[in-house]
Amino acid sequence: MAIYENLLLDQQNGILFITINRADKLNALNIETIREIRNAMQQVYDDATIKGAIITGAGPKAFVAGADITEIAELSEVTARSFAERGQDVFAMIERSNKPVIAAVNGFALGGGCELAMACHLRVASENARFGQPEVNLGLIPGYGGTQRLTQLVGKGKAMELMMTADMVNAQDALQLGLVNHVVPQEQLLGKCVEIMEKIMSKAPLAVGLVIECVNAVYTKDEDGYQTEANAFARCCTSEDFVEGTSAFIEKRKADFTGN
Ligand code: COA
Repeated sequence: MAIYENLLLDQQNGILFITINRADKLNALNIETIREIRNAMQQVYDDATIKGAIITGAGPKAFVAGADITEIAELSEVTARSFAERGQDVFAMIERSNKPVIAAVNGFALGGGCELAMACHLRVASENARFGQPEVNLGLIPGYGGTQRLTQLVGKGKAMELMMTADMVNAQDALQLGLVNHVVPQEQLLGKCVEIMEKIMSKAPLAVGLVIECVNAVYTKDEDGYQTEANAFARCCTSEDFVEGTSAFIEKRKADFTGN
């Protein structure tokens, strides 16, 4: 059983709530927290009772205000490369999870915080959320996948502007840019995430996982996403949930999916 110093984990009705818990440092991601996120995601992968995860930050002010600058300041060229690769691997684990992962962005999502949110499948922001990639202020660039995922989400021109100016955007602007899926008052944030998660959890889990895989294939170099889709479509047709889903429609009843 993994021990967590910087995360709070709480499982309710099949949803694992992962809370980054360093509120006095605005939940900045130190190396230990990155390691713990990996362990928590491994739990999401391995534990059949977990159907999805919601990631948020402790306190009312920050989701995550970035990688921990006190640790970044110590990096050399060699350690910096592995620092970035380690974070990228953990965030790729989130992105490739076949169980849905939703970011509940409850405040500042800067640098590694914005990157963490972007690695999740969906993002819901509270009205006070602020997004940005301010690394150029530190003589740096994003290192946890931000240059890639921000460009995927908002397009090249706006991604260039946000990363070159270090400007922050508020929740409404993030919504308009397609950086977040929904904006709600802070007190409704987790409720909205649970509502979306429960809707997804009522669908066929295999199909949901394959949607994630196929959408990710758009951004995977050298992968033919159409072929991935055709293979996944065929895989669905071999599942019990496919028989259940189509039978339920024909019999005019609600489908009861088992994940098989
Ligand atoms: N790394 C390490 N510590 C951080 C941090 C980070 N990314 N972001 C905030 N903190 C710490 C501050 O040092 C401060 O600690 P202290 O109380 O021991 O001095 C504490 O969190 C509170 O932050 P503070 O700056 O006092 O809050 P604020 O409301 O005045 O400003 C921000 C909020 C988010 C604008 C500001 O903290 C900030 O710019 N953070 C860095 C953002 C960033 O550049 N992220 C990318 C990193 S690559």
